[in-house]
Amino acid sequence: MTSATIVLLPGDGIGPEIVEQGRRVLDAVGLRCGHEFEFVTAEIGGKAIDRIGDPLPPETLAACRDGSAILLGAVGGPKWDDPSAKTRPEQGLLTLRKELCLFANLRPITAHGQLVDASPLKREIVEGVDILFFRELTGGIYFGDSGRRQGEGGEAAFSEMVYETAEIERIVRLAARAALGRRGKLTSVDKANVLEVSRLWRQVAQRVMEDEFPEIEYEVVLVDAMAMHLISRPKDFDVVVTGNMFGDILTDEGSMLPGSLGLLPSASLGESGPGLYEPIHGSAPDIAGQGIANPLATILAGAMLLRHSLELVAEAEMVEAAVAGVLDGGHRTADIAAGGESLSTEAMGDLVVAAVAG
Ligand code: IPM
Ligand code: MG
Repeated sequence: MTSATIVLLPGDGIGPEIVEQGRRVLDAVGLRCGHEFEFVTAEIGGKAIDRIGDPLPPETLAACRDGSAILLGAVGGPKWDDPSAKTRPEQGLLTLRKELCLFANLRPITAHGQLVDASPLKREIVEGVDILFFRELTGGIYFGDSGRRQGEGGEAAFSEMVYETAEIERIVRLAARAALGRRGKLTSVDKANVLEVSRLWRQVAQRVMEDEFPEIEYEVVLVDAMAMHLISRPKDFDVVVTGNMFGDILTDEGSMLPGSLGLLPSASLGESGPGLYEPIHGSAPDIAGQGIANPLATILAGAMLLRHSLELVAEAEMVEAAVAGVLDGGHRTADIAAGGESLSTEAMGDLVVAAVAG
């Protein structure tokens, strides 16, 4: 039996609706398998700004530190989008990642056979895609020096992209280890033809791979070319490792391969301490409160939580099988219904809960 405290951060937009379904599924797993999951809910993002002026209130950070794992919905929305605002919802998420040292963001991109026709790309390109992205999450341009200064052409702004050797080594090692358990191939993405920071990235990655993982098939690809290969030959990639901003952009591009953003989970992990699990889609303010959002990415994030933070691999597989079964049964939320009949967020949650309960 496993006892765990799971911190729920519903956040903004559709966040509360989808996190509720994620919680119900984890609860069902606990009941079925005899684990004790306690849930604690805390505020983050725009709602926290509205209430206390801070997108990551100290009590939220404290609850996260004390938890076994964290399940997050989404943060942000048009209400808080003013570029001159003092603080933004996204800052809450960035601070949480940094404070908990969650340097590795795992974003699996797999195409569910039943949904391949929902992809904007041709079936023969997309069918069988199985990529695991490792995006560095606590360094690079997201956390470098930034500011404004007076330029000759008026006000100027700068954001610095910095990586230290140790930061590159640890993410490359994690990605390489994951590749060992998969198809044994690793692709490192950089912009070494232009950026000094990428030239260091390339040297360090090369050394780690030669010294520690000679058995892995290793390649480097420039980020602009990768943007192209990702949609022209996505099946050629197994594990991909890259820096913070390149990973942000490429994983959004990759998320289009399976046809719906509503199905993709992600995990943010550090060397120790609680991991953070979330759907990769955003807060979808246009459909918030309507009860029609797709909860499956959040439910699958719950499966990653079971696997990576609680080491409950069979339970994670049970949730993944439940989701696949529901999709095989033809059940769809509006985003993947292609005009056909669609279920509410809660009804979709009901089906997965029922499948897990057995
Ligand atoms: C993501 C998001 C975040 C990021 C935002 C919300 C800060 O786009 O998780 O990919 O840029 O990292
Ligand atoms: Mg992003």
